[in-house]
Amino acid sequence: MSRRRVNNWRLIKGQPFTELDKKVLYYQNKGHLVPTRELIKTPEQVEGIRRSGVVNTGVLDLIEREIHEGMSTAAIDKLVFDYTTAHGAIPAPLNYEGFPKSVCTSINEVVCHGIPSEREILRDGDIINVDVSTILDGYYSDASRMFMIGDVSPEKKKLVEVAKECLEIGMRAARPFGFVGDIGNAIQRHAEKNHFSVVRDLCGHGVGLEFHEEPEVCHFGKKGTGMLLVPGMVFTIEPMINMGTWQVFIDSDDGWTVVTDDGKPSAQWEHTFLMTENGLEILTY
Ligand code: MF3
Ligand code: CO
Repeated sequence: MSRRRVNNWRLIKGQPFTELDKKVLYYQNKGHLVPTRELIKTPEQVEGIRRSGVVNTGVLDLIEREIHEGMSTAAIDKLVFDYTTAHGAIPAPLNYEGFPKSVCTSINEVVCHGIPSEREILRDGDIINVDVSTILDGYYSDASRMFMIGDVSPEKKKLVEVAKECLEIGMRAARPFGFVGDIGNAIQRHAEKNHFSVVRDLCGHGVGLEFHEEPEVCHFGKKGTGMLLVPGMVFTIEPMINMGTWQVFIDSDDGWTVVTDDGKPSAQWEHTFLMTENGLEILTY
């Protein structure tokens, strides 16, 4: 495989050459994609993202207590907006590239980016992803959970469980000075072993100082490819797992809602993670 050389990692004039410089430059010189220095969060930035994550988790815990059959997705949106703003934070989706609401609510065959609506009511047997992202003091966090409404079919339950396992397996596949591709590879293996498929068109992402930063964290691929994982990096893993085909399309009516091509259900779980010297730490627990 030919690699495009990207010299992301540069030495700082007048600063001593550290063990970290030595390690990252070793991989860069071998042709691997490495992070820029800006992607390595300072301890202060990590604390800011962690505090944002506390609010974000509070939102998801609230939804977990309140969600029920007969509720509209607009009512979920209101809970998210009210809780977030009451805690001095901002819902990151609101007005993000024109997104009209505070949260993404994605039911059954909707993969992600569903827009809450008064007209959309949770029904017995639905599975729904609620994707919450928070800005607190300029720091971003991002996590999502699945909820099952009433009596959910065994097939859909299995999909929700396997999607959750994919997140956990992806988390465990990430090690310092490993590669982003190790995560995607582990996730894809687990999904396909269970006869499900992995969405290709949307990926996890760096997060923290902005909503979406580098690297792109795809949930499929080859070990040893993609960006080098360096302690201090903060990113999401958010596998979208489909019961049928991995192909998706965007609803042309609203320009946001991502739907499976075959109309079969999709499930997703997401956390924001910090890469540490000993593997990933969840910042949205
Ligand atoms: N929360 C989504 C993510 O995981 C992003 C949603 S963008 C929005 O990256 F505008 F739809 F909110
Ligand atoms: Co995300």
